[in-house]
Amino acid sequence: MFERSKRGEHALLIQPHSGGAPEEDLLEEFADLARSAGASVAAVLTARIDRPNAAILIGSGKLEEVKAAAEASGADLILVNHPLSPGQERNLERALQRRVVDRTGLILDIFSQRARSAEGKLQVELAQLKHMATRLVRGWTHLERQRGGSIGLRGPGETQLETDRRLLQKRLEQLQKRLDKVEVQRTQMRRARVRSELPRVALVGYTNAGKSTLFNTLTGADAYAADQLFATLDPTVRRIELPGGGVVLADTVGFVRDLPHELVAAFRSTLSEAREADLLLHVIDAADPLRDERIAQVDAVLAEIGAGDLPQLLVFNKIDRLDGVAPRIDRPGEERHRVWLSARTGEGLALLREALGEALQLRRVQGGLRIAPQDARLRARLHELGAVRVEQADEHGWWVEVDLAVADAQRLFAQAHGEPLRPLLETAETPT
Ligand code: GTP
Repeated sequence: MFERSKRGEHALLIQPHSGGAPEEDLLEEFADLARSAGASVAAVLTARIDRPNAAILIGSGKLEEVKAAAEASGADLILVNHPLSPGQERNLERALQRRVVDRTGLILDIFSQRARSAEGKLQVELAQLKHMATRLVRGWTHLERQRGGSIGLRGPGETQLETDRRLLQKRLEQLQKRLDKVEVQRTQMRRARVRSELPRVALVGYTNAGKSTLFNTLTGADAYAADQLFATLDPTVRRIELPGGGVVLADTVGFVRDLPHELVAAFRSTLSEAREADLLLHVIDAADPLRDERIAQVDAVLAEIGAGDLPQLLVFNKIDRLDGVAPRIDRPGEERHRVWLSARTGEGLALLREALGEALQLRRVQGGLRIAPQDARLRARLHELGAVRVEQADEHGWWVEVDLAVADAQRLFAQAHGEPLRPLLETAETPT
């Protein structure tokens, strides 16, 4: 992540607005995105746009201002927080003699730097190529009109554009094919997880809320947390153990306001982790002054992907940055329960595990059972799970006293054709 800073791109940011004062919040978020892509912010300009200029979006007076500011600040990149048509991008680049990137291009760039899994990389490349393809295709239709299908201009003497377009199409098809394959594998993996009957929990939240940090703390995985947006691009899935049994925890991509639609489509597999969960852990940066808006924005994205009705546990993270807030669980009657914690210092994590157990109604079962010598495998599995409290061997096999999660007991029960564990499960009524 640090090598990007070495690229040393100095960006001039343009925040267009129509009427009223430009929103500070929008600008701050855009600056975060720019830094996330590894650029430093050289200068910031707002541009009032009442009627967008078809050729360059901004007015010609503003263009001069941008040019002067770019010279003065040494900016070598212009970032515009507004969608630009391919033509506008080209015209601006020509006039400013610098690379011009719009919001979608910037987010795509960040995504391409952050993709970790093969699938994530494929998805990003696909989204980038599609972004490019619309640009090439538009250029092409424009050219085609000019030629008016004249005889002699068709055929082998094809333009560079045609070659590019054909290569691009081929690459798109290849990528799509590979992605389809990966998606089939993923579905199979997901089915396997469903078969294991472990409850599934997905971490969701606004970008930078601390999802990856929490995921790592909960799973003990290698830390991959950056103070940059989108540290998480690919769903990372791990099994974790709670007092009441195992659950499958999935990390998901950070949500961001106005995520370009083509990207929502490209990341549907990431988002489907959220849609198919039994419970969403909605992580919030408790120290963010805009935290209520962020919660609403994340809820809006969840509704958009069909995950709006799933049960949620709100996690107010980063309490170490707030004065006088101790870890706690709030259990308001009708509303979502809230856990206040710090993923960084670890305070409040035990409460989160407790709240998770409650929300998922994880239960444990205790009891004694006899295991015949031919069921030695069952005994071995119970030991693997650390479920055996007392064990005695005699000529009939073993007598064991166990304490294990109902979900684990059910799984073993299915594998061991049921006999020894059935009475245990039938008498189990011990919620934790
Ligand atoms: P995206 O991948 O962009 O969606 O971000 P994320 O939600 O996964 O956030 P991440 O875990 O990368 O954390 C973002 C920043 O917040 C990092 O600098 C973390 O070190 C920091 N952070 C996370 N948890 C805490 C916390 O409890 N306290 C403090 N002070 N900082 C935290």
